[in-house]
Amino acid sequence: MTKIIFDTDPGGDDIFALLWLLSLQKQGKAELIAVTTAEGNINSKLTFNNASKVLSLAGFEQVEICRGVTLKQPKVADAAYIHGMDGMGNISHNLPTAKHNFDNAVYADELIIDKLNAYPGEITIVAVAPLTNLAAAETKSPGILKKAKEIVIMGGAFKVPGNVTPHAEFNIYYNPQAAEKVFASCNNIVVLPLDITEQLLFTPAMAEEILSSYQNNLTQFISDLCNFMTAANLRYRQTKGSKGFLVHDGAAVAYLFYPETLMFRRTKVDIETQGNHTSGKTLFDERLIAKANSNTWVALQVDKIGFLASLIEDFNFLCMNYDS
Ligand code: BDR
Ligand code: CA
Repeated sequence: MTKIIFDTDPGGDDIFALLWLLSLQKQGKAELIAVTTAEGNINSKLTFNNASKVLSLAGFEQVEICRGVTLKQPKVADAAYIHGMDGMGNISHNLPTAKHNFDNAVYADELIIDKLNAYPGEITIVAVAPLTNLAAAETKSPGILKKAKEIVIMGGAFKVPGNVTPHAEFNIYYNPQAAEKVFASCNNIVVLPLDITEQLLFTPAMAEEILSSYQNNLTQFISDLCNFMTAANLRYRQTKGSKGFLVHDGAAVAYLFYPETLMFRRTKVDIETQGNHTSGKTLFDERLIAKANSNTWVALQVDKIGFLASLIEDFNFLCMNYDS
């Protein structure tokens, strides 16, 4: 079974990816070792508490949560305008209180180092946030990320514009130095960029369908979060006017469990860390020349119908078997 550390900054689409993983865990297909939270969409205390509340809501409060390594002076604004002031659609007050204690929590980089040393070659890191925690682990323990089975990252924009600047995607732009460090650290990286995630539109009608089949606190939460995210995505023109929201982070889950929905290119990824206008841009060399240093699989095509069908079916499973 796939052992997973989920590195996340919840975040509406992060929560959808987490619930998808929890469904797969309930189906006996995934083993969530820990959730490491990161600063990004919102500050590190809120991302921690959001993860804790959702694990409690879904009946998985036994899963360990770690607090994120923070930047001394973030140069980039958070994404509260998309995800809500609480990072979770301004509805986190409707959820159970956080059971995990932020102040006493282990730091994410420490847990990553400990678990990769304990299970070399066995753990997949699913990273759907700025890469600060992973880079911190690599800095403290050089070579540690090579011990991961795979590192699956949602981030970057290769042949499409960025979503925070004309050239950069949020997770990479937030901490390009961290991204550079992670991409230089190993050759077992898979990237799900905006090129494919901007096609993954989850709609209020899909949430309504689940809610009408199973009425409980979890389905109500999924529907409320979807409604908030849809309004914000429309307001900030994330979906080119289509009603729904982009479930970017779910693409990382799809890669692991529904790989037939994705097509990849093997390449070497570089991160722009200096450019005045291009900081955080992700690049690969498209020239037809021999390349000896490819280290990454980049997803460039997605079967969005297959993706959404799989996500919805797994949400149905989680909601059908919900007993809190
Ligand atoms: C990424 O940025 C965040 O706002 C989302 O949660 C996702 O991880 C998309 O660019
Ligand atoms: Ca995220």
